[in-house]
Amino acid sequence: MTKITGNCDLLINNVHLATMDPDVDSHYGEILNAAVVIHEGIIQWLGSSDQLPDNLQPEKTINGQGQWLTPGLIDCHTHLVYAGDRSREFEQRLEGVSYSEIARQGGGIMSTVNATRQCSLDQLIEQSRPRLEALISEGVTTVEIKSGYGLNLETELKILKAARELEQQYPVRIEKTFLGAHTLPPEYSGKADEYIQTVCEEMLPVVAEEKLASSVDVFCENIAFNLQQTEQVFQKAKNLGLRVKLHAEQLSDSQGTQLATRYKALSVDHLEYLGDEGVNALENSTTVATLLPGAFYFLRETRLPPIDKLRASGIPMALATDLNPGTSPLASLRLMMNMGCTLFGLTPSEALAGVTRNAARAVGLQDKMGIIRAGYQADLALWPVQNPASLAATLNGEKPSLTVFEGRVLQSMTRSMNR
Ligand code: NIG
Ligand code: FE
Repeated sequence: MTKITGNCDLLINNVHLATMDPDVDSHYGEILNAAVVIHEGIIQWLGSSDQLPDNLQPEKTINGQGQWLTPGLIDCHTHLVYAGDRSREFEQRLEGVSYSEIARQGGGIMSTVNATRQCSLDQLIEQSRPRLEALISEGVTTVEIKSGYGLNLETELKILKAARELEQQYPVRIEKTFLGAHTLPPEYSGKADEYIQTVCEEMLPVVAEEKLASSVDVFCENIAFNLQQTEQVFQKAKNLGLRVKLHAEQLSDSQGTQLATRYKALSVDHLEYLGDEGVNALENSTTVATLLPGAFYFLRETRLPPIDKLRASGIPMALATDLNPGTSPLASLRLMMNMGCTLFGLTPSEALAGVTRNAARAVGLQDKMGIIRAGYQADLALWPVQNPASLAATLNGEKPSLTVFEGRVLQSMTRSMNR
């Protein structure tokens, strides 16, 4: 371990670490009775408390009282910025109308697009705030937010600006993704190729120029865009230096995964209908398989993503909320960890890796975060639990007793409420 002496900003002592670092050869990468030293937002040292240097002079010391410290959680797939409400669709689905049918009737994504177009930037920020706060209260330190409820330049930019504004107001990192190719807006009915042209020639260059997103996503599906249209968007994104990711194989096997891996996509997301060829493509790629059990649950899907095959092929699996008003109106990554286990058969340690190490890869930040390691960002969450498995196994309202974001200690909401 690196030697460390002298001044530092923060010492967290008397904790058990779930480092999630694959180089730490134990379940959860655990180190018991440990300490973490933080300086200028970066983890400087970690190890057994009895190896802490004597002459360390921390500005601030926290006694973790034997709680578990994990990396800050990362929600790597959300549509958190939107307006409106789609509860009526929930009723419709229970009355037997399918998600695809509702979309074909002009509801679904388009219903949220209409509400979002009508909102001002400030109203959009206000409506999105409680969802972001809910995630942060659960130890989330990085959130990916997609546009895609605008489908015209003005509203797509408004969504991305709202995400940027929220990042300035909250202690959280927001990775922004442009999803202009989410569905076909009625103005382009019957003219999907023309719309893709608009996305590529009129929207993407502005998004890239204004640095409003670092990656680009497409909904590749029979109710949205086909492989060829998806590839056009990927090609343009690549030319503009943006990373890509894909909503793939959610409702059918469109073979989007194979295309996405050819473009070195950060992740392919959903995957209930992923076939063997898609698994093979992932195995030979750097692309993460992101699982979204919330959408599976709300759509009462019965077909499971091929978890055993993904696991057997060693493909990194991330877990995310897919937080959106239609198919996954929930703002809890802890619930996703639980559903990842109960619905998809992940182990609790796979679930924790899915919201830390593998989620970091899904947003392209695996060299900076997602594990507790010297040199990495000091994004951490301290949990009042006996065992890290509890984070997936129980939903008793446990919140982190503290969260550290870029080395800064955040007051836990529960604690401040109890004061
Ligand atoms: O990830 N699948 C496409 N997009 C979202 C749903 C969007 C919506 O229904 O509003 C998803 O499930
Ligand atoms: Fe999604």
